[in-house]
Amino acid sequence: MAPAAPTPVLDASGPPGLPLFGHLFAFGRDPLAFFVRLRDEHGDFARWSLGPYRSLLVSRPEHIAEFLGAVEDTFEVIDISWTLKQLVGDSVLRSRGAEWRRKRSLVQPVVRPRQVRAYAATMVECASAQADGWRDGQRIDVQAEMADLTQRIVVRTLFGGDLGDDGRALGAAMAVAQREMRAELRGVGLFLPGWVPTVRRRRVRAAVAVIDAEVHRLIDSRLNGGAGSGHGDDLLSRLLASRDTEGRPLSPKEVRDEAVTLWAAGHETTSTALTWSWYLLSRSPEAFARLTEELDLVLDGRPPAYEDYERLVRTRHTLKEAMRLYPPVWTVPARARAGATLGGAPVPAGTTVWCSPWSAHRDPRWFPDPTAFRPERWDDDAPHAVPEHAWFPFGVGQRACLGARFALVEAALLLATLAQRFRLAVDPGEPVPRPGIILQPTEPLHATLRAR
Ligand code: HEM
Repeated sequence: MAPAAPTPVLDASGPPGLPLFGHLFAFGRDPLAFFVRLRDEHGDFARWSLGPYRSLLVSRPEHIAEFLGAVEDTFEVIDISWTLKQLVGDSVLRSRGAEWRRKRSLVQPVVRPRQVRAYAATMVECASAQADGWRDGQRIDVQAEMADLTQRIVVRTLFGGDLGDDGRALGAAMAVAQREMRAELRGVGLFLPGWVPTVRRRRVRAAVAVIDAEVHRLIDSRLNGGAGSGHGDDLLSRLLASRDTEGRPLSPKEVRDEAVTLWAAGHETTSTALTWSWYLLSRSPEAFARLTEELDLVLDGRPPAYEDYERLVRTRHTLKEAMRLYPPVWTVPARARAGATLGGAPVPAGTTVWCSPWSAHRDPRWFPDPTAFRPERWDDDAPHAVPEHAWFPFGVGQRACLGARFALVEAALLLATLAQRFRLAVDPGEPVPRPGIILQPTEPLHATLRAR
């Protein structure tokens, strides 16, 4: 059956909301279910309001592409978190307009495919070391284990060799900031003006002070060419060497902000994609068997390398399907400026427009049997073609994820390295996803390691 024609944005309907609060409580209680309900009951454009703020959920792939493609033009990114601001400063993630363009042009080259290739060996080395420490029958917390692994990789690719105790202090400070950000997004912290002092904010400031001191020390040592200045091929050195079209570098403060952003944006997102992949593979022995069949055939027992990425088709499709069902970034909102349109109709300025990889990726119009984990739906000869932009875990358009290639290569190499040697038998039960900044399981996901 051909999908129904799109609804014009001006005719958008929505559920009745409460005076003043709108749909704040329904959204706050379970935003994932709320978005799915809006999609199913109100179609391609659904009106709702978050407290007094007028909102619109966009569900059709071509409208999602049109919307995200217009961010930095007729839509603008929204500042949601005080903690994020302390952590990443004025980096590419939070900038707008000309400043954003300049920063994006300076940071993007640092994570180009050619550069990612240089980091592949570190990724595999760290994953092999993790597997060396695993034992048959051992119990693990999957999320913690994956986070530990991607954390080590990001610290090594960003700052070069092992930082030793400093690395641990940095990692601990980042963990505090990220924990506080999760708490902020769940609580009243989100609505507190920046000047209100709270215990949580004191904790954030202390953690950020540790990060600042350490990252600036590393920057200074590279600028002065002193001990620990690295070999020039870590991300920090590349950020320092980056030049804009007029030959200007980033200032040391800007380098600090971008380095912390690459770390914060890249570490938990990737570990979460891997965590959900292990969960889904554990529930589908057939999918795991097909994955390991490919690993045995392509790698024949040797560790994977960057060159294997394209050849590991089943591995890539497994991750793609896991990120379809559990997209680490579950929503991307932006605010309409004057002159914004969608589907040829005006969107009132100030409207917060939302799109959600969670609800779009589970839309039966584009994904038959949407909740089933089927990596083979991504095969070239799959019977049902997926429309362009129906899968968008990295966003779309000029503000799309800057580290997508890094993340995809990293996730594939880690999954390949670990799945060659171990199967993870995740404990029975269905984990409930918690939509914070990242979509993580609400409770720790425990598993028993089984050597292959
Ligand atoms: C599975 C892993 C990842 C996922 C799912 C993910 C997802 C996303 C999404 C949805 C956005 C916003 C896109 C938009 O607004 O349209 C984004 C932005 C961004 N991501 Fe990622 N990301 C991942 C890994 C990474 C990695 C590894 C890095 C860095 C090495 C990174 C760096 C960034 C940066 C800097 C931005 C901001 C770009 C801008 O505003 O111009 N991400 N990411």
